[in-house]
Amino acid sequence: MKQIGVGLIGTGYMGKCHALAWNGVRPVFGDGPRPRLVHLAEVSAELAAERADAFGFARATSDWRALIADPEVDVVSITTPNAFHAEMAIAALEAGKHVWCEKPMAVGFGDAERMAAAAHRSGKVTALGYNYIQNPVMRQIRRLLEDGAIGAVNHVRFEMDEDFMADPEAPFYWKSEASSGYGALDDFGVHPLSLMQFLFGGVGRVMAQLAMPYADRPLGAGGRRAVETWDIASVLMELRNGASGVMALNRSAWGRKGRIAMQLFGWKGTIAYDQERMNEFQLYRSEDPAGSQGFRTVLAGPVHPPYDRFIPAPGHGLGFNELKIIECHELLRAIGGEPAQIIGFAAGLEIERAVHAMAESHREGRWVEV
Ligand SMILES: NC(=O)c1ccc[n+]([C@@H]2O[C@H](COP(=O)([O-])OP(=O)(O)OC[C@H]3O[C@@H](n4cnc5c(N)ncnc54)[C@H](O)[C@@H]3O)[C@@H](O)[C@H]2O)c1
Repeated sequence: MKQIGVGLIGTGYMGKCHALAWNGVRPVFGDGPRPRLVHLAEVSAELAAERADAFGFARATSDWRALIADPEVDVVSITTPNAFHAEMAIAALEAGKHVWCEKPMAVGFGDAERMAAAAHRSGKVTALGYNYIQNPVMRQIRRLLEDGAIGAVNHVRFEMDEDFMADPEAPFYWKSEASSGYGALDDFGVHPLSLMQFLFGGVGRVMAQLAMPYADRPLGAGGRRAVETWDIASVLMELRNGASGVMALNRSAWGRKGRIAMQLFGWKGTIAYDQERMNEFQLYRSEDPAGSQGFRTVLAGPVHPPYDRFIPAPGHGLGFNELKIIECHELLRAIGGEPAQIIGFAAGLEIERAVHAMAESHREGRWVEV
């Protein structure tokens, strides 16, 4: 396949990231099919036309079903709010398209199961927007774990914090509605869970508590509306590899902008990482001479592929959008039948299973098997 026809549904925060990725993947990697930006869908014809022009798409529509029916579209990027993912992804798969869908996979577990079944039936490639597993630094951390650099990991600690909901006067919007899911648990939790799946495999047992810091939020039109989602979640975990774990999630954490802090404790060392410093990680090895033991900072560089495809100079740094370009390239590799590092709908269902087990644990106040 020399070219691949792309459809993009939704052009907000993530829609632009997907558009940048589809535009950038060929110049960066120089291999695989050349993406042809065929069709873009938004809520209104005007917005769709404006974004199609800005992002370089040939056609625009306010009807996402017309995009899916377009015979020139081979792969569909779904970047709409969570409540739309299942319907759009299943329709695209049934129309014979590959799907790149933003996280979380779906709101209800039943929808996620239907998505995984539709993917299986279609034989098409699916990828979820678990961009943080694409960081070249994360690949290096996985190599270190495989090489036993810190020994078997016995405890992991993940924190994901941002402050976009920290202000009690931040307006009510779709992430405050129950139709978007549980709140921090699925909006954020799926990212650390994707890293755990990538680094160690799955989660076995969980005990969770969800919290709602503000009971209501202002509406744009005046008045206030009761918040329906939990902006804070705290989870104890037993991983399938035997390690214990803690996951703390907070969308109302003043001062935290994009923190995904990860600490992996092994019997002979520790690895620490924070997404706010995504071009570095810290390694502590107890095998170092006693007088010079301490955390060393490893900076990302061309030695950590595919960093080299972006810039030849070490320490200059990649950004969030580069992770999306790598994710897009992995998707294209999978479509081309090559081994690829993506979390598709089948593996994504395991992440959903963990999230819903955590919600059940909160409801019932007990440990729940995933
Ligand atoms: N991978 C990540 O790190 C990451 C980060 C942020 C958001 N997300 C996910 O991306 C998705 C979108 O979030 P966002 O922050 O980009 O939201 P957003 O509100 O910025 O953008 C959503 C867009 O979808 C459009 N839209 C809504 N309904 C539509 C429809 N029926 N047809 C066509 N377009 C429609 C909206 O007009 C809007 O432009 C969510 O599922 C979210 O969880 C992922």
